[in-house]
Amino acid sequence: MGFDDWMDALEKRHLADLRLPEVTRALRALSSAYVERRHKVSRGGALDSAGKRAAFALFYAPLHFLVARHVIESIEGATQPPPATILDIGSGTGAAGAAWALAAGGSPFVKGLDRHSWALEESRWTYRALGVSGSVRHGDATRLPRLGARDAAIASYVLNELPDEARLRAEEGLLAAAARGTRVLILEPIARSIAPWWDDTARRVVGAGGRADQWRFPSSLPPLLRTLDKGAGLDHREHTVRSLWLPGRID
Ligand SMILES: C[S@@+](CC[C@H](N)C(=O)[O-])C[C@H]1O[C@@H](n2cnc3c(N)ncnc32)[C@H](O)[C@@H]1O
Repeated sequence: MGFDDWMDALEKRHLADLRLPEVTRALRALSSAYVERRHKVSRGGALDSAGKRAAFALFYAPLHFLVARHVIESIEGATQPPPATILDIGSGTGAAGAAWALAAGGSPFVKGLDRHSWALEESRWTYRALGVSGSVRHGDATRLPRLGARDAAIASYVLNELPDEARLRAEEGLLAAAARGTRVLILEPIARSIAPWWDDTARRVVGAGGRADQWRFPSSLPPLLRTLDKGAGLDHREHTVRSLWLPGRID
């Protein structure tokens, strides 16, 4: 199943019990919570209502899939050779890890890690819907399983949700994995207010042999995403994102 079929399946799944105006309203609330930094788990969480969960799954997850796919396909060494496993840290609905697995030809096994049980269930559903092999596990971004040279790890729009100390611990885990050969990709919005720590982390990543990039590319949103985007007063005519990449060691 490709991206379009996944979008159809998402629409059926999340608009079964909610109407589009309700999801649009929830998307507006979710977006302003992100901008105003009210979304952190420690401050109540972004996924605390059915409407917000549907808005995240229907709108942000496909957006993150498209963004992750673009970055992954643009970075040399991200897909070839394909990683054996991809750890998706703070997997949410599983979009970013699945995007990497598909960009690498579909063979990688995705392991979704999240501390929210709704997210884990959605990740499991996403892997099935997109035809990706994967499993999920409840866990914390600050305590990563041991990763090696055949593994990859992605932290997509999650580090900004962690308190400083936890974020630094997660970063340490990722740098240690990269030193053992794991390919590591971090994605975050370009807004400075969302990730004020970015420059310091980028310096450490570049110092460890990685690269830091900022991306801007035109979007071609499917109709449902365009409707939600417009209805919620957002403007995603182009995608922007920044990334940190650690190449690991290619066997
Ligand atoms: C904004 S969502 C991003 C989801 C997904 N990575 C994506 O790109 O669409 C952040 C996710 O990180 C999870 N999360 C936040 N803090 C976490 C932690 N300390 N350990 C594991 N997951 C965490 C949340 O439950 C949520 O599912």
